[in-house]
Amino acid sequence: MKLDLTKLPLGEILVVSVLGVVVGTFILAFAYGSDSSIEMEEAEEVAAAEPWQRGQEIANSFGCAGCHTTTGDVTQGPSWLNLFGKTETLNDGTEVLVDEAYVQESILDPTAKLVQGFEAVMPTFSTLTDADIQDIIAYMQSLSEEFAAATPTPEPTP
Ligand code: HEC
Repeated sequence: MKLDLTKLPLGEILVVSVLGVVVGTFILAFAYGSDSSIEMEEAEEVAAAEPWQRGQEIANSFGCAGCHTTTGDVTQGPSWLNLFGKTETLNDGTEVLVDEAYVQESILDPTAKLVQGFEAVMPTFSTLTDADIQDIIAYMQSLSEEFAAATPTPEPTP
């Protein structure tokens, strides 16, 4: 016998659809667990993100990437490829090591030290927290071969 929905009385169709929704909800609830466990999984995912990954997200969402490439190409600002750990020449001819303090100052007070050959067009990012800046530094370190090579992996302590 073929089930012809158009021939079923409206009441029966309603009962069938309501049953379908109820059963479907139970199946979904069992398949995915309760809402709270979904939230927990998401929280773990965020916490598990590496600092450099958060730094990359910050650099994209704050527009750093619009002026700083990570490929070595120079656009409005110096590229971040192999920037961390190198010696930068400033516009007054002095040299400065690109370390955490220098990067932090460059972000919070961009005109304090101007890189030779560049204009003072970088805005001040005073809304970035210390933690954000640490993540950006981790991102820059991940882009720096020299830094990665100069930092030996610490021996595991027994
Ligand atoms: C409008 C373009 C622009 C944006 C947006 C921008 N910068 Fe810059 N940045 C520059 C320029 C130009 C320089 C070089 C001149 C100077 O030292 O200020 C620079 C220099 C720097 C330096 C020093 C680089 C070196 O070679 O010594 C760092 C670090 C830096 N920026 C980080 C950031 C971060 C982090 C962000 C985002 C939160 C950002 N910049 C956003 C244009 C920009």
